[in-house]
Amino acid sequence: MAVIAAKSPRIKVTVVDISEKQIAAWNSSELPIYEPGLQEMVESVRGKNLFFSTAIDQTIDEADIIFVSVNTPTKTSGIGAGRAANIKNCELCARQIANAAKGGKIVVEKSTVPVRTADSIKRVLASASPHAFQVLSNPEFLAEGTAISDLVNPSRVLIGGEQTPAGLAAIETLVGVYANWVPRAQIITTNLWSSELSKLVANAMLAQRVSSINSISALCEATDADIDEIARAIGSDVRIGNKFLKASVGYGGSCFQKDILNLVYICESYGLKEVADYWHQVVLINDYQKRRFAHKMVKSMFNTVTGKKIAIFGFAFKKDTGDTREAAAAFVMKDLLDERANMAVYDPKVTREQMFEEFKYTLNVTPATVPDLEKSITTCSSALEAATGAHAIALMTEWDEFTILDFNALYAVMAKPAFVFDGRNILPHAAMRKIGFEVYAIGKPEQIR
Ligand code: UDX
Repeated sequence: MAVIAAKSPRIKVTVVDISEKQIAAWNSSELPIYEPGLQEMVESVRGKNLFFSTAIDQTIDEADIIFVSVNTPTKTSGIGAGRAANIKNCELCARQIANAAKGGKIVVEKSTVPVRTADSIKRVLASASPHAFQVLSNPEFLAEGTAISDLVNPSRVLIGGEQTPAGLAAIETLVGVYANWVPRAQIITTNLWSSELSKLVANAMLAQRVSSINSISALCEATDADIDEIARAIGSDVRIGNKFLKASVGYGGSCFQKDILNLVYICESYGLKEVADYWHQVVLINDYQKRRFAHKMVKSMFNTVTGKKIAIFGFAFKKDTGDTREAAAAFVMKDLLDERANMAVYDPKVTREQMFEEFKYTLNVTPATVPDLEKSITTCSSALEAATGAHAIALMTEWDEFTILDFNALYAVMAKPAFVFDGRNILPHAAMRKIGFEVYAIGKPEQIR
């Protein structure tokens, strides 16, 4: 919404939320999320044509276009638990829109929803309001950490709507918003269902590439082939392309896992078991990759990490974001907790509270389920502090600052042998081995066999 406001001075954008705390934060100098360039962009338009408010009903009634941008988390109980997306918040929005609007509106699904959700939204609106609504699907393809540039220069904007005169007119209205800065040829219009389903398929395909390269990383480690060399060799085939071939400790984030599981669930509900199994395997490989990393650590460190201190470099699910949802670090740390290791975590953007929140939400790891949790995990304000006295470094997030650390200083403060497990293949392995580190990486030949 900040980008729409910044790029369209004639459009008034009001962001509303039921949380007063969130809205107050959006109106302050400390935005509730970290995203490069966001603070500056918000400050350039806030109070001019971008507003943050809790006056939901009034804002609904004043608006011509309403973007429904609420979360659709994986259901935790009931039918489809663990897989289906919970669209309860979308439905609540539709009901509130129907009650508050004194005229017809264009309602845009921005949230990632299962295919055919627009049908439910339409029916709720039609049964609760006498006015005519048009429902559009306009999925979000931005990635965290690069959100502003992804939105300012999108590879494409996708808008789906009903293929009726009124539906096509609504599509054109929304096209007009994006046309303020996006070349017309990059604005793709489709029917509602193609647009809804494209979002899930885009994320499933991206995640599949990461799982594919990660599956081969295991084979590389068994054969002394090098995964980065393979990625370069295959990625230079234009039919394959070089993006999303970076082997890692596993993908995380709020989208991949959730969207694939949702896709799997949808396939199952249409009786397409083989299709469901095919996509489910992408998730299983990701689980395997996270587990494999923790196992490799334990095995390399003489089959025990009990009571040993391990420095965890990075907790966010990728660099340039403070987002920890589904972060691979949480899964690896859970396995290390089971082995009774002590961990010292340093992440430039993640707070201790947020880390424990993630443990609780995703893994049910709390002081009640894991006694000594608070004692086993300390949080540090620098990489050097985390590494002091540690037997190993486990690099979980590819923050740039980890590539330019003083490795001699790190080596000096660690217990020996000083192990390094590079979950992102970003450290200078040869130089570190020269210093004396014992380095393990993803899909890389090992020093000792
Ligand atoms: C993703 C999609 O890219 C975006 O289009 C969609 O709108 C939301 O979901 P995001 O979750 O922000 O965006 O992050 P993304 O950059 O796609 O990375 C996802 C995960 O895959 C991260 O944990 C990342 O570290 C990992 N990854 C990515 C790899 O391990 N290797 C790669 O080559 C690329």
